Amino acid sequence: MTARETDYRDDFGPFAGRLWLNCAHQGPLPRVAARAVQQALQLKVTPSLLTDDLFVEVPRRVRSLLGRLLNVDPDDVILGNSTSYGLHLLANGMRWQQDDEVLLVRGDYPADILPWLALEKQGVVIRFLEPGGGGVEPEALEQAISSRTRAFCTTWVNSFTGHAVDLHGLGTVCRSRGVSFIVNGSQAVGARPLDLSRTPVDALACCGYKWLCGPYATGFCWIRPDLRDSLVLSQAYWLAMQAGRDLSHMREYTIRDDLGARAFDVFCTANFLDMMPWAASLEYLLDVGIARISAHDQVLVARLLDGLDGAGYRVESPRAGEARSTLVLAQHRDGHRTESVYRTLRDAGIDVALREGLLRFSPHLYNASEDIDRAVAVLGTV
Ligand SMILES: Cc1ncc(COP(=O)(O)O)c(C=O)c1O
Repeated sequence: MTARETDYRDDFGPFAGRLWLNCAHQGPLPRVAARAVQQALQLKVTPSLLTDDLFVEVPRRVRSLLGRLLNVDPDDVILGNSTSYGLHLLANGMRWQQDDEVLLVRGDYPADILPWLALEKQGVVIRFLEPGGGGVEPEALEQAISSRTRAFCTTWVNSFTGHAVDLHGLGTVCRSRGVSFIVNGSQAVGARPLDLSRTPVDALACCGYKWLCGPYATGFCWIRPDLRDSLVLSQAYWLAMQAGRDLSHMREYTIRDDLGARAFDVFCTANFLDMMPWAASLEYLLDVGIARISAHDQVLVARLLDGLDGAGYRVESPRAGEARSTLVLAQHRDGHRTESVYRTLRDAGIDVALREGLLRFSPHLYNASEDIDRAVAVLGTV
């Protein structure tokens, strides 16, 4: 612990003596959320506790917390179960014409690519931008946009390079050219602040189980209301149609068009075992404050970068500025030894990821400087 550092470790775990530096894969549940799992479990063990109100209240709470997180109207938040859910709503919902173009980024995460690639059979043209060393720059995007370009989709933080793109710059270009700017926030939201009311993003899809520390199979999507209203809606979920009504009139069979974002929600929105703990995690993170979490995470990242330099590793992810994220990718100075370093770390009880031959470290709130020092000490022995 450094003098000014707050220790959040007791709010998480136990970690069975291991060190989890792999939030980019799975964010751990805070203890308060683990308790919420117990409460959700009890509702199913004792179904008389599972009142009708809870089917409304649980999704309402999650939507409201996500609205707070992103500074948007909670009624514009679509509840999903993954990043892919939101990206599919967009790819399958936009009204395409022959030769319309979608711009994607070569090397992006497959969840970001495949929903669009599936449109090729409808005559949509997919073009890949080559980001070079980092992410796509606004100038390169500007040059790539043609009169047929309808959408540009990118991850905010790339899982394989740790590079964070310039949302403002890219979004401004998209807006000036009438192109929908669609962002995958999975490797960033929860680790860095985002105010969607001030950022030129048209849609954000995100999972809840990484930097938002929710259970697996949580996620959401925010789509700017005018874009959302233009989408083809290809579902009519019975429970969404009952919104605001009492459940004794279910057989009216009406398809409502006044549901807004809720019409796009994943089915079984009140997925108690996932949603109750996720709400608790979100509340916890918001109480700490995303700006404070981001500062805490960046202290850890800076310490790790120093440690990697000192131990002679080659850092491949951005070292400074806005492009630096909470994902640090590095390799051993003898590149071929990187995989054995990964195994050494694992055997020493330190979990990182190995991605395309690189070590990927991704510390978050539940880590402290001592954790970084413990990892660096092992790195120095290999
Ligand atoms: C950038 C990015 N997008 C999406 C995902 C996961 O997608 P989904 O939430 O649809 O499972 C990951 C998982 O590692 C990711 O790194």
